[in-house]
Amino acid sequence: MISETAVENLTLAQAREDLARLASLITDANRAYHGNDAPDLTDADFDAMKHRNAAIEARFPSLKRADSPSDQVGAAPSDGFGKIKHDVRMLSLENAFDAADITDFDDRVRKFLGLSSAVSYTAEPKIDGLSLSLRYVNGRLTQPATRGDGETGENVTDNARTIADIPQRLQGDNIPALMDIRGEVYMSHADFAALNARNAAKADKTFANPRNAAAGSLRQLDASITASRPLRFFAYAWGALSDPLAKTQSGAIARLHDLGFQTNPLTTLCNGPDAMLAQYRAIEAQRATLGYDIDGVVYKVDDLALQSRLGFRSSTPRWAIAHKFPAELAWTRLESIDIQVGRTGALSPVARLKPVTVGGVVVSNATLHNEDYIQGRDSRGNPIRQGRDIRVGDWVQVYRAGDVIPKIADVDLAQRPATSTPYQFPDLCPDCGSPAIREPGDAVRRCTGGLICPAQAVERLKHFVARGAFDIEGLGAKQIEAFFNDSDLPIKTPADIFTLAARDTAQPLRKLKNRDGWGEKSVTNLVAAIEDKRQIPLNRLIFALGIRHVGDSSASLLANHYTSWATFEAAMTAAEIGSGPEWRDLTAIDGVGDVLAASLVTAFHHPAERAAIDALAAQLSVQDAVQNAPSDSPVAGKTLVFTGTLEKMSRAEAKSRAEALGAKVAGSVSAKTDLVIAGPGAGSKAKAAEALGVAIIDEDAWLALIGAT
Ligand code: IVH
Repeated sequence: MISETAVENLTLAQAREDLARLASLITDANRAYHGNDAPDLTDADFDAMKHRNAAIEARFPSLKRADSPSDQVGAAPSDGFGKIKHDVRMLSLENAFDAADITDFDDRVRKFLGLSSAVSYTAEPKIDGLSLSLRYVNGRLTQPATRGDGETGENVTDNARTIADIPQRLQGDNIPALMDIRGEVYMSHADFAALNARNAAKADKTFANPRNAAAGSLRQLDASITASRPLRFFAYAWGALSDPLAKTQSGAIARLHDLGFQTNPLTTLCNGPDAMLAQYRAIEAQRATLGYDIDGVVYKVDDLALQSRLGFRSSTPRWAIAHKFPAELAWTRLESIDIQVGRTGALSPVARLKPVTVGGVVVSNATLHNEDYIQGRDSRGNPIRQGRDIRVGDWVQVYRAGDVIPKIADVDLAQRPATSTPYQFPDLCPDCGSPAIREPGDAVRRCTGGLICPAQAVERLKHFVARGAFDIEGLGAKQIEAFFNDSDLPIKTPADIFTLAARDTAQPLRKLKNRDGWGEKSVTNLVAAIEDKRQIPLNRLIFALGIRHVGDSSASLLANHYTSWATFEAAMTAAEIGSGPEWRDLTAIDGVGDVLAASLVTAFHHPAERAAIDALAAQLSVQDAVQNAPSDSPVAGKTLVFTGTLEKMSRAEAKSRAEALGAKVAGSVSAKTDLVIAGPGAGSKAKAAEALGVAIIDEDAWLALIGAT
């Protein structure tokens, strides 16, 4: 496939021809690799082509192509699968690591529900695969979708149909007309080993672990390839349902089994933490012989009525928790320490390690958190690792828990080189040279360069296009890096994304199409994907701004409170840190503390930041926050304050009920408060309400108002 003539013997014409051929082959291979998880070349062939390309370019620099694979950053996005919006979001689980976390979880559940008696939970293995939502209409499989970002997944219809554990048609009577059944796709150890052996024999790509193999197989665009890779499925949850499956989690699982799904045989019912922990140990003891990977045990409140009272936090249910197995460990050498500058200027030290396999995955980097951590102290100044510091050249113990970034558990002082010296944490930003300072009480040293620091600017942009923010298809971290450094058509601030096509005007989109790794189709798709996001929900915009302390749940709180961009922006402009009505209004939002509020106000008052925000807003049409909650409830749109002791339900449950009915719950009384619910012992808030003439009712009146008596 590659010309056999040695590079030094090529004529100019042959070299030109070879470079053209290599550019096209390498681009195709890149696309196959990144887009479809299915490289059609071996790594060795691929490397040989890149190598030859570089050698020809070195000999004939004038022949280097505009689309040279040497500069290629990755594949243009593939068309891939269609998108499916989940009717009910696919959430993740809170993690627990020890027995204390489990008793704490049970305490929180009972406290929320106001129960002193024991609560029953199901315990089942946490399958290490990838989740899938299967839609059944009148008992027939119509639409399987991956989790995606939780809100929108990929339609993997043909692939899911090749999985034998997934029934095409459900069995039995009284099948709900519409059901979204959720569970985990996984690959058994035996099938994984056979697949890797087959691929190795064909010099094809092998997978690091069964989870990657399952993910790669499910995301195959060619369903016949998926069919040749045995995948399995356990059902353990559901989304939208036209009729309930049962009254309990365990009953629902039994029902799923009757309908024809595989459910995990190790699922048991446990009455309280002691039984849960006993089941955890029992499952852990069987882990090695199960024949598939599990990474912990999931506990779920059994009573579905209690589950629905407990409800959800922004991304996890209150009624379930994943108890993870202990992390896997390995020793290796710390070769160097690099400093990465994050979106908020935080200097994060990263350990570069001599590569080592930890639990089946090769690890070569680990987080070192911050300078105190390197010195052997935690955030309160207490010793960690018995005060042992970490130095370049040290022999360190690395651990991995689940998908998180590996960490360093320990240092072996006996193996420390005699010449080693303590690590000197930089006090200048390694990227822009601005002073890096530590504010009192902050564990992190931060670059003070703000948007003039290229590292911060590019990280902000990556955050801006990430999932949960603008999530622009075809514009991921890699593409952002390339555009950030592009002299011709740069993206330096979020607004630049939306002016990209308009700036490429001499011959419309020509520069874009000439970019390395891009072609006609990927450019058209990118431009369309950008246009698509000019309309953006308010909460996503606020989150995307990347302001320190403003995560996705606080962005939603702010969006729900201010409802429109104009109101939000006006309030932030008028607000003064620490005083005035706008400040009081902002900090009265339950969940918005002084630190977050000050960070927001600072950003809106900083000239460069503000200019970037205004330029961006001018490009967008921001959608007002829509209240999902019913607008016909008696408290919809009202601002409530709870104070004093509630006797019939916990404060947390009262708040979550009120929010479900479309009310806003504030932490303090102001002129905007509509109603105060005061239990016994109500003090200053009730007085403030009286002074402001705000209506005050007791708990019974509150329950009657929402029809909960
Ligand atoms: S329940 C609303 N049960 O773990 C909660 N999840 O870390 C729905 N997972 O995204 C999830 N085994 O992909 C549940 N027995 C199990 C599970 C399980 C594996 C996965 C699932 C989820 C992730 C959260």
